[in-house]
Amino acid sequence: MKTTSLLVAAGVCLAGAALAGPPAPSDVVYEDGAVAMSLTGVPGDPENGRSIMNKGAGNCIACHEVTALADLPFHGEIGPMLDGAADRWTEAELRGIVANAKVMFPESMMPSFYRTDGYIRPGDAYTGKAAPTPLEPLLTAQEIEDVVAFLMTLKEE
Ligand code: HEC
Repeated sequence: MKTTSLLVAAGVCLAGAALAGPPAPSDVVYEDGAVAMSLTGVPGDPENGRSIMNKGAGNCIACHEVTALADLPFHGEIGPMLDGAADRWTEAELRGIVANAKVMFPESMMPSFYRTDGYIRPGDAYTGKAAPTPLEPLLTAQEIEDVVAFLMTLKEE
């Protein structure tokens, strides 16, 4: 019964997302740190997610070791090893962790990849004015979905 209404809600939201585009980072709904709804309604591309893990704004392996990415150098040990992440977490939880890890892990040093508010902007401190252009999240909504799709491949059991 609960599942059915969730599925109905998911369907409605997917239709809404297709029309309206991804939610603004501040509009994403977290439940116990998890984000049940796809941010885009478009299935993530695990291959693209894999490459985001390794470069640019993602650069997850600066802090995380992942055996599936053992071909890449410089794995950090600040965060936990991500092998088996899909056994430990649901897709919704992984989406929440990647979008804004600080909801799941308060005080975490893991960056919030889909968040634009709550930062202290250096410019503001001097001018008291909002930054001239809105901040962009570190990753786009679809890049979040791609990374989540890659994380969902990290199963050991
Ligand atoms: C600056 C370091 C840092 C970066 C960069 C980082 N993380 Fe993390 N991550 C952490 C830490 C630390 C934790 C442990 C949670 C906490 O803070 O208590 C964590 C936790 C996690 C977890 C839960 C781990 C588990 O299985 O228990 C996942 C999944 C994760 N990170 C994925 C990612 C992904 C994907 C990226 C890149 C998009 C990323 N992280 C980038 C530091 C980082």
